[in-house]
Amino acid sequence: MFFTRSLAIAAAVGAASAQLKTCSNSNNTLSCHSSSKSPTCCFSYPGGALLQTQFWDTDPATGPSDSWTIHGLWPDNCDGTYQANCDSSRAYTNITAILKEQGRTQLLSYMDKYWVDINGDNEQFWEHEWSKHGTCVNTIDPSCYTNYQPQEEVGDYFQKVVDLFKTLDSYTALSSAGITPDDSKTYDLSDIEDALAKIHGGQKPYVGCESGALNQLYYFYNIGGNAITGQYKAAAPLEKSNCPSSGIKYTPKSGN
Ligand SMILES: *[C@@H]1O[C@H](CO)[C@@H](O)[C@H](O)[C@H]1NC(C)=O
Ligand SMILES: *[C@@H]1O[C@H](CO)[C@@H](O)[C@H](O)[C@H]1NC(C)=O
Repeated sequence: MFFTRSLAIAAAVGAASAQLKTCSNSNNTLSCHSSSKSPTCCFSYPGGALLQTQFWDTDPATGPSDSWTIHGLWPDNCDGTYQANCDSSRAYTNITAILKEQGRTQLLSYMDKYWVDINGDNEQFWEHEWSKHGTCVNTIDPSCYTNYQPQEEVGDYFQKVVDLFKTLDSYTALSSAGITPDDSKTYDLSDIEDALAKIHGGQKPYVGCESGALNQLYYFYNIGGNAITGQYKAAAPLEKSNCPSSGIKYTPKSGN
């Protein structure tokens, strides 16, 4: 008698999750520090500088009264110029739905608190930031993923922006230096820059004013490797502050 034993093929296939291609050390040339003009999944080009940008909005006030809010993460060509709207085929109009589908509910609730639109339309603000700036981050091009699943890079981008923002608590850095929102006080630009450099590897950010009052911050980075998985090295600002050197106002978000 002869038995044939049927082999149970364990179909442990499932949905293979998308993954960014691995960057080895030899690929990790620091962006803005190489004459190479080839964008790769491990080298940010031409947008070699990434800026984590923040708002202090008081009219109307957005976000918690003791925190700056997120503007975005913008590639810059290492010289103050930048590309924008790099891929209209990925200019999605369903960021909230994409993040929900990816199970990123904690990310979404954080964004609803700290990445808020001045007119209350967060979804539209996020769509704008993604299509204008996110699609220009060359190291999260769909070709940089193995088993790419559509819109995976969108979740990676928003998560990275939030993760970076969490390391850049501008409000606390300023208040630790005695710089707090107060209608009866004004501050010097150098004191503001020095306080913020302490949370940014000793590099001051770009400090933006509107009508002589603090309004925006841009923290500059160069990237070693991939913008999601690689190293972020704090870099000097590529733009000069438009604030006065003294007499800068820091308007409270409430009670004005
Ligand atoms: C890393 O560099 C090697 C050698 O230049 C190249 O063949 C490879 O494609 C690079 N990897 C990525 C993910 O760009
Ligand atoms: C988001 O929009 C894109 C483009 O229209 C579509 O392919 C995708 O299925 C949508 N995702 C969700 C979760 O609705």
